Amino acid sequence: MLHVGINGFGTIGKRVADAVRVQPDMTVAGVAKRSPNFEATIADDRGYDLYAADGREPFDEADLATAGTVHDLIETSDVVVDTTPSGVGAANASLYAEHDTPAIFQGGEDPDVADVSFNARANYEKAVGADTARVVSCNTTGLSRLLAPLRESYGVEKSRVTLVRRGADPGQTGRGPINDTLPDPVEIPSHHGPDVQTIFPDLDIDTMGMKVPTTQMHTHSVNVTLESEPTTEEVTSLLADESRLFLIPETLGIDGAGKLKEYTRDAGRPRGDVWENCIWAESITVEGRDLYLFQAIHQEADVVPENIDAVRALSERTASAEKSIRRTDEALGVGRGLVEHDGSPQRVDSHADD
Ligand SMILES: NC(=O)c1ccc[n+]([C@@H]2O[C@H](COP(=O)([O-])OP(=O)(O)OC[C@H]3O[C@@H](n4cnc5c(N)ncnc54)[C@H](OP(=O)(O)O)[C@@H]3O)[C@@H](O)[C@H]2O)c1
Repeated sequence: MLHVGINGFGTIGKRVADAVRVQPDMTVAGVAKRSPNFEATIADDRGYDLYAADGREPFDEADLATAGTVHDLIETSDVVVDTTPSGVGAANASLYAEHDTPAIFQGGEDPDVADVSFNARANYEKAVGADTARVVSCNTTGLSRLLAPLRESYGVEKSRVTLVRRGADPGQTGRGPINDTLPDPVEIPSHHGPDVQTIFPDLDIDTMGMKVPTTQMHTHSVNVTLESEPTTEEVTSLLADESRLFLIPETLGIDGAGKLKEYTRDAGRPRGDVWENCIWAESITVEGRDLYLFQAIHQEADVVPENIDAVRALSERTASAEKSIRRTDEALGVGRGLVEHDGSPQRVDSHADD
């Protein structure tokens, strides 16, 4: 059993902890944070040992028991997943090295924070046995999952992606835009293209970013020039075979992120999380060697299964990407409750619960 510590128990950290909890080969060693806010009480309710990242006094004052400091958590963990805010992970890197504890960082950190930038479908093997890995951002994860099978089957000459990004997560009351549509960043390419190149160094990709006033999901408008000329049906079938790509059937009448989130809530997903890239099946179009499609990415959720796979890769418990992905997906319920694009009932019938 792998003991996994989670340092930073916010949007990503609490989801990673709950995902660790349902894995057959992992257990939550504990979670660390600074303040005794509502997320600390949730950790307590879940039975996760709470560790103080910045002094135990605030927790004592709030009458919340702590099991120790973040140093104790790191010492007791086989692997630590750092899900602190952007920049804090880099500051924590020396702590993990001091304790000789393998660590996983998030996409908010610069690539040089870790030995390898990680996406399970694209480069799992590179992280096997590494001391540190960085799970790339939600957008980069979504693009890597899509591009990996396209590169393998057809070759990719050039990718052009416009990312229409959610302005904030639901809990980020201080962020915007409130009523605007922003080119963000205005400079081209946006940082996403170079980030995807940390996964596929030889990939030709241009990205443009925008921000819009929604908290639901990101939406990508994708154009990939392939090296060969498959049919639309062939590409559809290739993508449908990928466990972390969900092809939204036209018959579901899902016209945007709002209905997608409603669908996954109805399907019984914890927090309404959408771990899969959601590709509108009827948007998949091949003209000559050019592939076009729209996909939605749930920023709070898609990196969660990738963090679980990164834990396995670093700990060298599972050498094969395929095995780890299958194990993670079954335990978490990736694909659970979602209808296939051809109308058949379910892709994965997982018994795992939140
Ligand atoms: N949210 C997304 O859409 C998203 C998607 C993909 C990747 N990421 C990346 O994931 C990372 C975490 O983002 P997030 O959205 O989960 O952030 P978040 O919601 O702000 O959560 C961060 C958590 O870390 C805690 N924290 C702050 N300073 C800490 C410290 N020094 N030590 C331990 N805990 C500390 C915070 O609570 P206290 O202040 O109470 O400790 C908070 O619970 C970032 O690198 C981000 O770029 C985010």
